[in-house]
Amino acid sequence: MNGGMSPFVIVIFGGTGDLAQHKLFPALFSLFDKGLLGEKFYIVGFARRSFTDEEYRKFLREELCVKGSEVKRWGNFAENIYYQQGYFDEFSGYAQLNKKLDTFDAEAGGDMTHLLYLATPPDKYLSILHNLKESKLARSIRTRLAIEKPFGRDLENARELDKRLSEIFKERQIYRVDHYLAKETVQNVLAFRFANGIFEPVWNKNYLDHVQITFAEKAGIGSRGSFFDGIGIMRDVAQNHLLQLLATITMEQPKSFAREDVRNVRAAAIKAIRSIRPEDVTSQVIRGQYEGYKKESEVAENSMTETFVAMKLFVDTKRFENVPFYIRAGKGMAKNVVKIKLVFKQTCSVLFKEYGCPEIGNVLTIRIQPNEGIGMRVVVKRPPISGAKSQLALGTVDMKFLYKEEFGGHKDVSYEKLLLDIFSGDQTLFNRSDELESSWSLISQIMEGWKNQNDSEKFVLPTYKIGSWGSQEANVLIEKDGRKWI
Ligand code: BG6
Repeated sequence: MNGGMSPFVIVIFGGTGDLAQHKLFPALFSLFDKGLLGEKFYIVGFARRSFTDEEYRKFLREELCVKGSEVKRWGNFAENIYYQQGYFDEFSGYAQLNKKLDTFDAEAGGDMTHLLYLATPPDKYLSILHNLKESKLARSIRTRLAIEKPFGRDLENARELDKRLSEIFKERQIYRVDHYLAKETVQNVLAFRFANGIFEPVWNKNYLDHVQITFAEKAGIGSRGSFFDGIGIMRDVAQNHLLQLLATITMEQPKSFAREDVRNVRAAAIKAIRSIRPEDVTSQVIRGQYEGYKKESEVAENSMTETFVAMKLFVDTKRFENVPFYIRAGKGMAKNVVKIKLVFKQTCSVLFKEYGCPEIGNVLTIRIQPNEGIGMRVVVKRPPISGAKSQLALGTVDMKFLYKEEFGGHKDVSYEKLLLDIFSGDQTLFNRSDELESSWSLISQIMEGWKNQNDSEKFVLPTYKIGSWGSQEANVLIEKDGRKWI
């Protein structure tokens, strides 16, 4: 241990949930392994189930599938894990938690940093905030609050959450989480764009035909029915991760990497996305549900929740005037892939028309995951087939940078980065309210359009086969513009 981090407590509200199991505890365990958690720390899971500390540690060990050489290290790590049973909307659990924190503070010999981490579905946030206030759990300026995406259900709810937050915490104590901002490959987009002078000059409407962003996951919703149903992919992924990916492409160069400089350009990028009027939703937004979704556990049998969404967006800046952004996200898709494609205007036909130009010319692909990397498709002359009469022919090839070849691989450490940033007080990679206000205002208006669609008797929510690329209508969305998903 390097003992670098000061003593701290993390309380994870939703301590038995999916996020705690799949993201937070693995990140904390890994930081512990790297000696980055310091000498003294306490992790408290807060959830409904009744567990002793020991039972909770065992539950986590099993859920995280700790085995082999990890078991001993896990044992050392788990000594720092505690459990507090409580209901999010009942005061008593919070009062007990408060006492527990007093004991920890006394044991550690002073006020520690307390991180209250809201890792529950968003419909619990207001109750939790209410009880945090009542129980005075936000006890000092050393308390920090992390709140997961989706930050609310809609614009109104997000505003209310912000109001409540500001009654309890100062802005510098609040960390609104979107872990895509902390992904190495997402941060690299900024380095790629602004550290290489050759891309900026072509990063605009004069050269770009359009941009595609795909966020596809093979898995369905698995055991997350109670979280996902009624939330849907739009709130789960599009309002946050997908729009943030778009912002990395469209933002202007920040003045510096200082916190507010970066947040300013990000917020401006989200604000510049043109809103879609409810009456235009049908032509610009497609949704779908994978076949069999309604049979998933804890999903309503008549559920209208979308597991797929595709949209055509525009960004109202001089740089991107009228450049369409086709973006899509889905569960139960053909592949696990998150990628951004910048498709450049085809110019090859000026000189090479008679020799046949490839249908699509230059494409810059940024692979966020897996096979992380960046590739550039270029048009080349194909060598003649030996012996045949030589005739000029063109083809495309890919020039590629792969993390695994250059850096020996890539492990997603976004949650580790976020946790370290919270403890060091760096809010750069966390959402500011104005970003969320803009993203929710776009999404809420679309949802308004969906509500109107749902009310019309004619509307049937499109379905798609598991393992496909989502609703057929998403192809129509792009093909009617003479383009196609790549
Ligand atoms: C989460 C969503 O925010 O991101 C999940 O709630 C999604 O539905 C996940 O699966 C994807 O994150 P990652 O880091 O695994 O790509």
